[in-house]
Amino acid sequence: MHISVLLEESIRYLNLKDNSVIVDATLGYGGHSSNILAKIPKGFLYAFDQDKEAIKEASKKLASVGSNYEIINTNFVNIKEELNKRNIRPDGILFDLGVSSPQLDNAERGFSFHKDAKLDMRMNQDDKFTAYEVVNEYPYEKLVDIFYKYGEEKYASSIAKAIIQYRETKKIESTLELAEIIKESVPEKYRRQGHPARKVFQAIRIEVNNELEVFKTALTDALDLVKPGGRICVITFHSLEDRICKQIFNEVSSIPKELRKLPVIPKEYKPKFKVVANIAPSKKEIEENARSRSARLRVIERVNDYGEEKN
Ligand SMILES: C[S@@+](CC[C@H](N)C(=O)[O-])C[C@H]1O[C@@H](n2cnc3c(N)ncnc32)[C@H](O)[C@@H]1O
Repeated sequence: MHISVLLEESIRYLNLKDNSVIVDATLGYGGHSSNILAKIPKGFLYAFDQDKEAIKEASKKLASVGSNYEIINTNFVNIKEELNKRNIRPDGILFDLGVSSPQLDNAERGFSFHKDAKLDMRMNQDDKFTAYEVVNEYPYEKLVDIFYKYGEEKYASSIAKAIIQYRETKKIESTLELAEIIKESVPEKYRRQGHPARKVFQAIRIEVNNELEVFKTALTDALDLVKPGGRICVITFHSLEDRICKQIFNEVSSIPKELRKLPVIPKEYKPKFKVVANIAPSKKEIEENARSRSARLRVIERVNDYGEEKN
């Protein structure tokens, strides 16, 4: 089962009206989407996901709430193209990033270092590129680079070295095989600070799904698409995603540095967005759902085209 993270807060910050047009970029198991749908009886929901299994489950949930929605089975990197095709400018857009609990729990998907499975980690089952290629074909330097960059793993080089050495005798086929190689290549002390494979698995998953680039593009497009007065809510689960969101939100909500000293800021240079919230889950939510521990919700609002807030 998937427990939606920061559900109440994200729904509240979306400022839903009866007739709002909302995009859920990450439908998942429909937790956020079904709550949104219930609050927009005269509006419309467009929900994206690239995972067919998630869509199958979420469809049942949404159908029991209403019929004013469309599920778009594609990567959210295509948000602009898909909304332009439909001539839509939404009142709100939600991103709830990462993988869902069922994706993690289903051993076959190969996301978990606790369950034995083929190295996979694709969110979109139609993609060809999997964790197997990353682990068995990437050269040493590239492995070190992704473990550092996407996993912030301080033992990146020893882990990459161990992988390359192991590959000299046989291919690395499974998640547990990889987890064991990682465990054996880090100091004993490090093994006691949480599972030593956690960061490397995160890094490989980000690489397989090109998660950071895709998110950057989609968030930038979402800012162009959202209507004046509309909001974008982003729930992130690790510092890399959160940093991207924070940087982009800061950039679009502030006056360019070189103009800040001007006595009057010309209308065209006034920021088109204002940051509305930056919150973490409550203690209670973290107690009830450990997956929410590292989550953060950032919210931004598009002010109207004259640099003023919509009433
Ligand atoms: C954390 S779950 C969303 C859970 C959902 N909000 C709920 O309450 O049930 C993230 C979902 O987003 C999907 N996803 C992640 N990145 C995506 C992308 N680039 N394009 C489309 N879907 C994506 C995943 O397949 C997963 O189903």
